[in-house]
Amino acid sequence: MSSLQGKTALVTGGTAGIGLAVARRFAAEGAHVFVTGRRQEALDAVAAELGDAVTTVRADSSELADLDTIAAAITDRGAGLDALFVNAGGGEFAALEDVTWEHFQQTFDRNVGGTVFTVQKVLPVLNQGSTIVLASSNIDVKGSPSFSVYAASKAAIRSFARSWAAEFVGRGIRVNSIAPGPIATPGLSGLAEDPEAERALLAGLADGVPQKRLGTPEEIADAVLFLSTDQSSYITGSQLYVDGGASQI
Ligand SMILES: NC(=O)c1ccc[n+]([C@@H]2O[C@H](COP(=O)([O-])OP(=O)(O)OC[C@H]3O[C@@H](n4cnc5c(N)ncnc54)[C@H](OP(=O)(O)O)[C@@H]3O)[C@@H](O)[C@H]2O)c1
Repeated sequence: MSSLQGKTALVTGGTAGIGLAVARRFAAEGAHVFVTGRRQEALDAVAAELGDAVTTVRADSSELADLDTIAAAITDRGAGLDALFVNAGGGEFAALEDVTWEHFQQTFDRNVGGTVFTVQKVLPVLNQGSTIVLASSNIDVKGSPSFSVYAASKAAIRSFARSWAAEFVGRGIRVNSIAPGPIATPGLSGLAEDPEAERALLAGLADGVPQKRLGTPEEIADAVLFLSTDQSSYITGSQLYVDGGASQI
């Protein structure tokens, strides 16, 4: 039997990159998957691809009213939620002297506020024994120039995984975070201003990884699936680094 057969999952930011790979993997494992994102055309493409296995909800994770809409859609379906992957997020480069209040606020609203209030809003529909996986980054333990606000936002996510693991353990809910290294996604490519800068950025990032390559969204999906099933039943409050060794060796 597939590992998520009959289960219900939510993947925020599930229309591209890592989130899309996880939504596909969860659906292939038998789950009904709620997928969110801000662009309707991207949501329509996921609905066309995954058919009955998916319910798409247009929602910006940094808007509280949108998060209520997600929780209401899950409530309406009537089966609760078994696996939550809080993935929506991203960042932009800015050296400290160029960091504006707007840059800081947007980064923290998107990555930290969006995570806190997504989890808060779906708490009432989480089933006994459910799992939560938060999207952190291996940058949480590394110093990286011109990326300090993003790095701090991902370090906050790692901290929330510990605290919420403690807070929900009595409900049988496990909480972990995933720490990808550089993964080939539209979000990573989008950090560069033009194709030439993109090639240089991706080559430089790959060179900084002991395995000398970028990771794939599917490799992150494998790890998220592991943390979302009974395969990881004795793991909670942990962060799993999936980064070709970049933060470890
Ligand atoms: N790629 C990497 O190298 C890497 C490394 C470490 C950590 N991460 C983290 O992994 C997560 C996914 O990264 P990715 O590279 O796969 O990103 P991506 O390619 O940019 O895809 C992001 C997805 O999230 C959605 N999204 C973005 N902001 C949103 C918001 N405010 N509300 C709802 N949906 C939103 C996007 O759709 P819409 O634009 O339509 O909303 C899209 O579906 C992020 O949290 C990122 O920080 C990525």
